[in-house]
Amino acid sequence: MRLKDCHNFHDFRRLAKRRLPSPIFNYIDGGADDESTLRRNTTAFDAVDLVPDVLRGVADVDLSVTTMGQKLDLPVYLSPTALQRLFHHEGERATAQVAEEFGTMFGVSSLGTVSMEELAKKHDIPQVYQFYFHKDRALNSSMMAKAKESGINVMMLTVDSITGGNRERDLRTGFSIPFRLSVAGMTQFAIKPMWGINYVTHEKFSLPQLDAHIDMKGDALTIGRYFTEMLDPTMTWDDVEKMVAEWGGKFCLKGVMSVEDARRAADIGCSGIVLSNHGGRQLDGSRAAFDQLDEIVQAVGDRIDVMIDGGVQRGTHVLKALALGAKAVGLGRYYLFPLAAAGAPGVSRAMAQLKAELVRDMRLMGCRSVAELTPEKLRTRPR
Ligand code: LAC
Repeated sequence: MRLKDCHNFHDFRRLAKRRLPSPIFNYIDGGADDESTLRRNTTAFDAVDLVPDVLRGVADVDLSVTTMGQKLDLPVYLSPTALQRLFHHEGERATAQVAEEFGTMFGVSSLGTVSMEELAKKHDIPQVYQFYFHKDRALNSSMMAKAKESGINVMMLTVDSITGGNRERDLRTGFSIPFRLSVAGMTQFAIKPMWGINYVTHEKFSLPQLDAHIDMKGDALTIGRYFTEMLDPTMTWDDVEKMVAEWGGKFCLKGVMSVEDARRAADIGCSGIVLSNHGGRQLDGSRAAFDQLDEIVQAVGDRIDVMIDGGVQRGTHVLKALALGAKAVGLGRYYLFPLAAAGAPGVSRAMAQLKAELVRDMRLMGCRSVAELTPEKLRTRPR
């Protein structure tokens, strides 16, 4: 199986699975507990059907949207995700390059493996900085200052991770950074030598956003330990209100799910929210963002930009979210598997496929622009 054999999300996932040591593949692929939310994120889109209009004369399709003050050529953006150079040695460099190629926004994580400054210098596209609220307040302030200096356009605070989700696949493989693997996990690395060769022959693994603040030489850091030991579970709306003021620019909360919280986000001056359950990786059994979208847009859509992420694998998933009023849709595994499978050419191919699907689906829907995708174009499927 090669890159040219990849025609959809599932193909890229399969190729990534072949190329990655299984602890890494399972870290990306897995969710919390029984992974019911992970599965639901994608099946949620099946609960509504698209109702196309015909004979509308759609020659050109304009896919552009504006969200968080940023004009994007596509209604999808590459969400911030952790540890990308572990998946492919090009890591965030590939992600940013492809975001630029498609004129859209990308995010760099606090647990990113390339520095936000480097990426901001190199790419003239909107960059989101994904922020975790640490116990160490000096660390929070210095990260915000660094983001400001780097010219970050949007601050995105993750609010669904004050403790680590129960990722049982990672417990089984012993996944952690740097690696300290179970014997079974070790064997998995040994049988994927190409990954190992690439890993050791490229720039040393690091977390440039955090390096100065955590001791990577000590105990291996698991994602669960980072969340549980370094992040501040006492974070409240008051803390965030102060952060919003300190940042003084576009600020959004990622991981808001309830109407009441969406209203509070608007009240404290946020410019947007991302409805998200962290790709099913935190609270299993929580609702899919798509299922919650209509209610939230009705409540706050005229005050703040509502975005969603989770489970998106198809152009039609994106159209359904846009029709319900999402301003843009975040992608995670959708680009991570292509990244792992083939680096920048992989991500580029996946994005080109999504763009082609979006254009085709818009034509078939009789819509020339995203504004024409209204709730009228959807019907809920009776259960
Ligand atoms: C995760 C974090 C790091 O889901 O976002 O693994």
